[in-house]
Amino acid sequence: MSENLEQLAEEYKIVIRDLMKVYRRGQKEVIALRGVDFEVKQGEFLSIIGPSGSGKSTLLKMLGALDKPTAGAILFDGHSVTALDDRRSMLYRRQKVGFVWQIGNLVPGLSALNNVILPMKLAGAPSRASAERATMLLETLGLSHRLDHKPNQLSGGENQRVAICVALANNPELVLGDEVTGELDSETTEIVMEALKRTNKEFGTTVINVTHNPKVAEYADRVLRIRDGLIEGQKHVLYGDITEIDAKGRMVIPDTVRRLAGLGKRVVLRATSEGLLISPLDTSGYDDNNDQGND
Ligand SMILES: Nc1ncnc2c1ncn2[C@@H]1O[C@H](COP(=O)(O)OP(=O)(O)OP(=O)(O)O)[C@@H](O)[C@H]1O
Ligand SMILES: [Mg+2]
Repeated sequence: MSENLEQLAEEYKIVIRDLMKVYRRGQKEVIALRGVDFEVKQGEFLSIIGPSGSGKSTLLKMLGALDKPTAGAILFDGHSVTALDDRRSMLYRRQKVGFVWQIGNLVPGLSALNNVILPMKLAGAPSRASAERATMLLETLGLSHRLDHKPNQLSGGENQRVAICVALANNPELVLGDEVTGELDSETTEIVMEALKRTNKEFGTTVINVTHNPKVAEYADRVLRIRDGLIEGQKHVLYGDITEIDAKGRMVIPDTVRRLAGLGKRVVLRATSEGLLISPLDTSGYDDNNDQGND
């Protein structure tokens, strides 16, 4: 790669390069992300829109250090998120990131106020300051009259606004939203998205929200489209897809890779300074249904 990642990392809060995620279940593999590249500015509100199964939640999990990518880089303030060990991943999640999921991650037995206080308590913050901050956050999102209500005494939109406050409790630098309004009607969606936007503007928190709803995506400063594990309009390079070569030199090239690279039954091999280049000789022999490839 010719670009200078260090230089990019100085300019952007988050830099993502060639991010790949392959899920394996026995012999089957699903390539959920196939080389995703993008940058996010400090304080930006970014939407990522894409259909079901396009890799949105997978991407958020990598960004939130909830799971590790198969290959690629995520730099947060210039530091690699993917290289963090378990303990540092936990600290990153606790100190830097706030998560908001489709269905509020609230504790049912606790009031709205105590739900927002809880993450601060877990982080060891003094109780008086925590209560003040929780009250301020709930007031900012228009919930000053709901402090003592439990989740089942709140509407869907109120629940999600409390969930945003929970995500903001420890003053994260990044808020990750996964289909935050997925369960809400359009009117409530508007209220919750306005709340998320206010969060972004008033606290300067960087927000990345994924959705399949174009109306929801519009609340952001910028919208990226994801499809089949790739950001639309980007190069379709497959980086780091892992396969094995057996003792006889045979290699299985996954079906999806063959299709994307346009490889047929006969290929040309060329040793280059970067490794082995496999180019199509012809694509006429490619058979979509031939997923055993044993011939
Ligand atoms: N733990 C897993 N094991 C195996 N495959 C997985 C796993 N998680 C996700 N996948 C697969 O990876 C692909 C991307 O999934 P992902 O959940 O990221 O999609 P999504 O864009 O969030 O979809 P939705 O809008 O339905 O939530 C899908 O094909 C999915 O089946
Ligand atoms: Mg999802």
